[in-house]
Amino acid sequence: MRDIQSIVVLTGAGISAESGVATFRGPGGLWEGHRVEDVCTPQALQRDPELVHRFYDARRAQLTGIEPNAAHLALARLDAEWPGELLIVTQNVDDLHERAGATRMLHMHGELKSALCAACGAREPWEGALPPGSACPACGTAALRPDIVFFGEMPYRMEAIDRALGEADLFVSIGTSGAVYPAAGFVQTARYHGADTLELNLEPSGGSIWFAESRMGPAGVLVPEWVAQVLG
Ligand code: OAD
Repeated sequence: MRDIQSIVVLTGAGISAESGVATFRGPGGLWEGHRVEDVCTPQALQRDPELVHRFYDARRAQLTGIEPNAAHLALARLDAEWPGELLIVTQNVDDLHERAGATRMLHMHGELKSALCAACGAREPWEGALPPGSACPACGTAALRPDIVFFGEMPYRMEAIDRALGEADLFVSIGTSGAVYPAAGFVQTARYHGADTLELNLEPSGGSIWFAESRMGPAGVLVPEWVAQVLG
């Protein structure tokens, strides 16, 4: 393995699958017969706010019954023990990385436990149901919505992510299908800047051809193995 100082890890729904969270594009990925792409759009929120809020209320409620798995715990160990640079970028809106103890991380697609004011842009920590028309504590407008990046909206923290990808010696993608951009393109950006690339996924993803190495299997096995290898 080459000399590695700086690591960027991208995670997707597959890392939370063994905690009991359904992936988006696998079995059980439909919700009340809707594809995620049909529910998670600004147009859907405008057309049927009850439906969109119910979708995220159900996912938020599910968080109380699930726990981080061995893969989340392994990344938290990496976070605690890796002496170099590290950024864990998750596409997941659950809180399992944080609950495992990871700190050097960000949520590029938003968070279930946060509400966003569509009027003033304020963010509010949120537990429980979020009915449409809830009032923003900051500005008072009845405009709180789930703090989720919908299809067609700009993911969060792209500048920080681009900077980290530009400096990475190693880019590792875990449990993501490579179906949704810009995250699906991170491997190409990292390669362009000279990073080594590794994919850990249950099966070859849409972007597998871009990775220098792909390891196939459950995240709960592959991630602890990889972290042990990196930490030596
Ligand atoms: P997907 O559901 O598209 O892909 C999950 C990937 O995880 C698949 O490639 C599976 O093979 C793999 N997988 C399943 N179980 C696994 C396991 N136990 N171990 C390892 N891998 C496993 O989910 P994402 O790629 O995360 O966006 O989806 C990307 C985005 O699409 C999501 O963030 C979400 C969705 O629309 C928003 O909500 C904005």
